[in-house]
Amino acid sequence: MSKPKIAFIGGGNMATSLIGGILDKGHPSSHITVSGPTEEKLFRLNQKFGISTTKDNSIAATGAEVILLSVKPKMVKSVSLELSASLKHRPLVISVAAGIPLSSLQKWLGKDAPIVRCMPNTPALVQAGATGLFANTVVSREQCGLATEIFNAVGVCCWLEKEEDIDAVTAVSGSAPAYFFLFMEAMEKTGIELGLSQKVARKLILQTALGAAKMAMENDIEPAELRRRVTSPAGTTEAAINTFLEGDILGLFNKAMTSCVKRAKELAKEA
Ligand SMILES: NC(=O)c1ccc[n+]([C@@H]2O[C@H](COP(=O)([O-])OP(=O)(O)OC[C@H]3O[C@@H](n4cnc5c(N)ncnc54)[C@H](OP(=O)(O)O)[C@@H]3O)[C@@H](O)[C@H]2O)c1
Repeated sequence: MSKPKIAFIGGGNMATSLIGGILDKGHPSSHITVSGPTEEKLFRLNQKFGISTTKDNSIAATGAEVILLSVKPKMVKSVSLELSASLKHRPLVISVAAGIPLSSLQKWLGKDAPIVRCMPNTPALVQAGATGLFANTVVSREQCGLATEIFNAVGVCCWLEKEEDIDAVTAVSGSAPAYFFLFMEAMEKTGIELGLSQKVARKLILQTALGAAKMAMENDIEPAELRRRVTSPAGTTEAAINTFLEGDILGLFNKAMTSCVKRAKELAKEA
């Protein structure tokens, strides 16, 4: 696939990680433009990546085959309306904005605009993200391929069957880094109470999180089975796991993730 011209509208955290990822995968810097309101930030992006920058969103969009809307959700409406006149060449528009439905994007960008809505997560910032994507019916197979390449450059991505699955993705990966941070926080606190220094507790917990994720990714074995294999009857792990299960950890996960989906729907309505 030839390398498309990509315009990032907004050059903040998400745009910076995506740009870093796609440049690492061999995308030419001459094919990337970023627009944003702050001269100084644009200058820094130009110095860091050697990409073009402009304060004019429409100039960035003109001639781009992919336009990545990477502004905060509250800015998406005004930026989309501003860009709508620059989309006559029907570029693919990708929105990473949380909670903004395709129906609104189509209203602002034009009903024939090819649009992909997606839900990335913060590990994209360290090129280990997980993204769910959903395309409107106007997006071509080739454009789906472009979106896949962009998000695979900062981790993994999955195409969704229906737009409302974005809310479930918010629960399983979008918001989920925070769940893992919470476990780390809780384990570190208890590790210290059990007598370890914070440094030792943190080092061991982080490596264990990484090791468990690696084992689950590198083996085609169900997580429940991996768990059973490290839980000897009447052993130490079983004592801990039984305590989690008696405290209804499974029910708690269900409640937490269902609340996440509910909140995503409320935010989409507010947006
Ligand atoms: N960060 C994440 O992990 C994450 C995860 C999932 C989804 N997202 C989505 O990604 C989007 C961006 O988030 P972020 O964390 O990257 O935010 P961010 O760091 O604040 O970046 C937003 C950028 O938009 C620029 N901007 C503001 N007004 C603009 C305008 N009128 N035209 C063009 N650019 C404008 C800002 O420039 P100035 O700073 O100069 O004002 C800033 O560089 C959000 O919609 C968010 O929902 C982010």
